[in-house]
Amino acid sequence: ESGACAPEVRHPITLGSPEFVAAPQAHCTWLRTHAPVYRGRIDSALVDQDVWIVSRYADCKSLLTDDRFPRSPAGGPAIAEGMPDHLRLLSESMIYKDSHEHRRLRRLVAKPFTPRAIERLGRRVSELAHGLLDELESREVVDLRSEFALPVPMTVISEMVGVDEADRERFHRGIQGLLSGMGESEREVDHDEGAALAEFVRELIERRRRAPGDDLLTGLIQAEEQGERLADDELAAMVFTLVTAGYETTYNLITNAVVALLDHPDQLALLRADPALMGSAVEEAVRYLGPVQSSEALTAAEDVTWHGRTIPAGSLVLPLLAAANHDPAVFAAPETFDITRGPNHHLGFGHGEHFCLGANLARMEARVALDALLRRNPGLALAVDREQLALEAVPMLVRYRSLPVHLG
Ligand code: HEM
Repeated sequence: ESGACAPEVRHPITLGSPEFVAAPQAHCTWLRTHAPVYRGRIDSALVDQDVWIVSRYADCKSLLTDDRFPRSPAGGPAIAEGMPDHLRLLSESMIYKDSHEHRRLRRLVAKPFTPRAIERLGRRVSELAHGLLDELESREVVDLRSEFALPVPMTVISEMVGVDEADRERFHRGIQGLLSGMGESEREVDHDEGAALAEFVRELIERRRRAPGDDLLTGLIQAEEQGERLADDELAAMVFTLVTAGYETTYNLITNAVVALLDHPDQLALLRADPALMGSAVEEAVRYLGPVQSSEALTAAEDVTWHGRTIPAGSLVLPLLAAANHDPAVFAAPETFDITRGPNHHLGFGHGEHFCLGANLARMEARVALDALLRRNPGLALAVDREQLALEAVPMLVRYRSLPVHLG
C-alpha cells in the first residue's frame, strides 16, 4: 500500500480494476513519475472506456480550473448514451454542470453548508455517535464501518435533506445496489435497484410537496414555487446527489481514518494524548487515504497537448486526486501518515468551482465521531488480521469492505 516496493504495473492502467485497487499508491507513483498525462481506462458499472489520467498535483489543480475541460454529462457522453432512463436524471446534478448553470444549482443549497450552520449541528452528531456507542459497547466484535461510521452521516444528511427514518434503509440499499455492480468487469448493475431508487426519490418529493417539513427538500420545493424553478429531474438529481455524496464519502473517511490510526500506533497515541490534533488528523486522513479517488471526468473541448501527449477533443480526462495527494513535489514524505502535517493543502475535497460543498460537514462529522470513539475506547483494536482488511474495487471511491474491531 505504501508504494515503497514497486509491484508490476500492467498496462493500460485501469481505474477500478483489482490490480489498481490492490496497490493504488504504487500505480499513482508510477503515473506521476513516468506518465503524468496517461491514456488509461476506467472500468465501472456505468463506464468502460478510455480516459486520460492526470496525476501530478499542480496538473490536477490547473485542470480543475481550465475552461478547455468542461464537465461531461454524468461522466461522459458515452456513458449518457448507454445509460438507462432512470439514471439519466443524474446528469442534472450540479456535479456535471458548468458556469452559470452550475452556480444556479449550487447556490440553491449552499446555505445549510456554511461553517456556522455546520457548527450548530455538532451537538446532534455527538449525540448520534454516543448513542451508537452505547448500543455497541457490550458487543464482542463490531463492524465499525456498517455499525458506526455509516449510520452517523446517513442520519445527519437524511435529517438535513428530509428523508424519513423509515425510508433510509431503502435509500441505502438502492445506492449500494447501484455501486455494487461497479468495478466488476461484467458490469452487473442492478438496474431494478436503480429504477426503484429513482422512483423512490420522486415519491419522496411528492410527499414533501403535500406535507412540507423543516428540511432542505421542502426549501427547494418552495424555492421552486417562488420562481427559482428546478425542473423535476433537477430536483430529483439534487436529492440523490446530496444524500449519496453526504454519507457514502463520509463513512468511508471515518473508516479509513480508523484504519490509518490503527496502522500507526504512534500517531494514535499522539492523538489520544492531544485531542486538539483531531482537526489536522482528519485532514491527514483525507490526504493519506481519502474516500474519493478522483474528480468526475471532464471532457477535452479541443485538442490539448500536454507533457508531450495530445489529448484529442472529446476525450474524457480525469484528475486523479489520490495521486496528487501523494505528490512529493508538494508533500514531504508523502507515504508517511503524519497527523501533525502542516500545511496540508490536499485535493481530497476537489478544487475550483466544484470544491466539495459538504467539506465542512464531513470534517465536523469525522472529528466528532472519532473523538467519541477514541475517548470511550482506549483499547480499540482490530478483531481480524490486518491482511484481512481489503479495499473494495469501486472506481472513484476508496473503501474497505468491513472493519471488524473490539471496542475495548
Ligand atoms: C463535490 C469529496 C463529503 C456534497 C466533491 C468533490 C470531491 C468531494 C472530491 C469534487 C468532485 C468533482 O470535482 O468532480 C468529498 C469527500 C467527502 C465529501 C472526500 C467526505 C469525506 C460530502 C458531504 C456532502 C458532499 C458530507 C454533503 C452534502 C458534495 C457536493 C459536491 C461535492 C454536492 C458537488 C459540488 C459541485 O459540483 O459544485 N466532494 N465529499 N460531500 N460534494 Fe463532497
